[in-house]
Amino acid sequence: MIRPMRPVIVAGNWKMHTTPGDAGELARTIARRTNEPGVARVLCPPFVCLAAVRDALADEPAGLGVAVGAQNVHHEPAGAYTGEISAPMLAGLATWAIVGHSERRRDAGETDELIGRKLLAARAAGLRTILCVGEQLAERDAGRAIEVVDRQMRGCLAGANPGLAGGDPLGFTIAYEPVWAIGTGKTATPEQAQEAQAFIRTLIEVPVLYGGSVKPENAPELLSQPDVDGALVGGASLDVESFAAICEAAAK
Ligand code: PGA
Repeated sequence: MIRPMRPVIVAGNWKMHTTPGDAGELARTIARRTNEPGVARVLCPPFVCLAAVRDALADEPAGLGVAVGAQNVHHEPAGAYTGEISAPMLAGLATWAIVGHSERRRDAGETDELIGRKLLAARAAGLRTILCVGEQLAERDAGRAIEVVDRQMRGCLAGANPGLAGGDPLGFTIAYEPVWAIGTGKTATPEQAQEAQAFIRTLIEVPVLYGGSVKPENAPELLSQPDVDGALVGGASLDVESFAAICEAAAK
């Protein structure tokens, strides 16, 4: 099958790891070690490390092709929201944002409706967005994975203009991340990822990444699926060699 020309993206979600003291060095090393043609790289460190990562990449010739993303944004541009970070605050720090990660759905009680508002807030601030969707294990076992993804997609996009990408092929991206595969070492089979991602693409024609225990060992098979346009990588994105191997697999 000839794969349609869609951008290939490998994004690293550093979660609650790294400090402003060591994040820049990690970003610089990753930038030097990864430079596959045609693979957009995005590093998403904690908020407090965004400036360090931005500066490290700006000082490094190899850093040119690496984008910086936030792991979350607030749904309002400003206001009395103690401890929160809004999308406009990220100006000059990040050009991407992850929205609706399952750990935030779980820990911060984010609903599809709220995530939809975050998506709009991020887009209004000019950020490229990665919207995360994915089912729980019990939902998959009950044969409801696609139904859940459908509900999340419709719930998150209800208030959104379908022209979210705004002509930018990277502007709006989905990550299919089955919750049972995140940080567990269990990965969706290539067939499971392909089925869910092909379904997502029937709803919206944008790049769709797979996330959930992506590792150098499983990346080649996952990334060779026709509807897997890249990866959202958690644990393995903190290891330079692992992240580099995933980028290499994405380039093939
Ligand atoms: P993982 O995380 O690769 O560690 O499973 C993926 C994610 O949460 O985006």
